[in-house]
Amino acid sequence: MASLLGYCRAGYEPDLANEITARAAQLECYGYPKFTTGEGFITYECYNPQDADKLGRLLTVESTIFARQLVVITTELQGLDKQDRLAPVLESIIGHDNPEMKNGVLYVEHADTDAGKDLAKFCRKFTVVLRQALRKNQCLTFKEQQNGRGIHVFFTDFDTCMVGYTYPQSRTLHANGIYRLKFPASAPSRSTLKLEEAILTMLSPAQQELVFRPGARAVDLGACPGGWTYQLVQREMYVEAIDNGLIDDALMATGLVEHFAADGFTYKPQFGRVDLLVCDMIEQPDRVARLMGDWLVKKWADHAIFNLKLPMKRRYETVVEAMDDLQARLHELKDRFDVHLRHLYHDRDEITVSVIRVSQNSYYN
Ligand SMILES: C[S@@+](CC[C@H](N)C(=O)[O-])C[C@H]1O[C@@H](n2cnc3c(N)ncnc32)[C@H](O)[C@@H]1O
Repeated sequence: MASLLGYCRAGYEPDLANEITARAAQLECYGYPKFTTGEGFITYECYNPQDADKLGRLLTVESTIFARQLVVITTELQGLDKQDRLAPVLESIIGHDNPEMKNGVLYVEHADTDAGKDLAKFCRKFTVVLRQALRKNQCLTFKEQQNGRGIHVFFTDFDTCMVGYTYPQSRTLHANGIYRLKFPASAPSRSTLKLEEAILTMLSPAQQELVFRPGARAVDLGACPGGWTYQLVQREMYVEAIDNGLIDDALMATGLVEHFAADGFTYKPQFGRVDLLVCDMIEQPDRVARLMGDWLVKKWADHAIFNLKLPMKRRYETVVEAMDDLQARLHELKDRFDVHLRHLYHDRDEITVSVIRVSQNSYYN
C-alpha cells in the first residue's frame, strides 16, 4: 500500500475524501480514503503502490476543490523519541534520495486545527535542524528552488509524522497549503480577503491583467457592505453594486461605484454588458450557478467570479451537480473558458468559482 496525504479545512475531510476518490478513479487509481473528521487531513490508501506517485504527479492541487496540499507519503513514523526525532526523519528522507531532491524545497507542516497550531513553533524549529542535517547528507545541497521536489514532513502530534514528497507542477507553494493575506484596514468587510485570494491564486498573472483593467466595468451582486467592491475599486474598475443593504461611504466617495438597491436575480447591467460579474449572495448553489450561467451565456459578462454557499451535507456532490449544469451550458457556447473551483483559505462554508472567458467562438468564425 502507498498513500496520498491531503490537507483541508477541519470539518471538510469527508468532502476531500469524496473528491479524491472520484478524481483518483478518473485516473484509474483505486483505493479508499481514511480520515477522522475535524483533523484537517485525509489519506487516500492506494491498492497499487505506484498509484500514489501517479496521483501526486497528475492530480494538481489547483485542479481540486477541497485539497490545500497533496503529498505522496513514503514513510509513517510513530512513537518518535522526543530526545531524537531527527535521526528517524532524516533516515526516511535519505532512504528515498533521488537527484531531484538536491534542489528540493523542505516543508515541515501541521494541520490547520487547534492541535496543529500547538505544533507550529516546534515545526519551525525542526525545519532549521532538519535542513542542516539534510545538507550534511548531500540532500538539498543546491539552493532550494520551487522547481525541485517538495520534501514534506507532516506532524500530526509531537511524536508522529508522515514523510513524503510533492512534484513542483502539482503542489501549492504555500506552507501548510495556506495563502495568508493581510486584512486591508480600509476595507469594509473581512469578505474582501475571499475575492483577493481568488484573484491572486485562481487567475494567472495574464488573466489578472486581462480582467482587472483600470476603467473596466463590473457588477457585484450581493455587494454590501462592500468588501468585494473594494477589491474592484482598488483596481480602478467601475462597479454597479447590487444589494438592499448599506454600502460603505468611502467606496461611494471614490466616484467609481453606483449602488442599486435591487434583487440580484432580476438585475440587468446598466449598459447591456460588463467585463466582470462577481457574486457573493447567500443563496442555493444551484440557483447561483444558473444565474451565473445566464449572464455568461447572454454575454452580459465576459468573466465571472462567484461563491457557492455549501449545504451541511453532500457538499462535494452539490457543487459537482451545480457546476456540471453550468459547464454544459458554457460548452454549448463553443467559447473557451478557464474554470476553477476552490475552497479557499478565506472561504468559510462556501467555495469560490472563477470562470474566465479565454476566447470567443466568433474569433474562429
Ligand atoms: C455575504 S454578504 C456579501 C458580502 C460582500 N461580498 C462583502 O464583501 O462585503 C451577502 C449579501 O448578499 C445580499 N443578498 C442576498 N440575497 C440577495 C439578492 N437576492 N439580491 C441582492 N443582494 C442579495 C445580502 O443583502 C448581503 O448583503
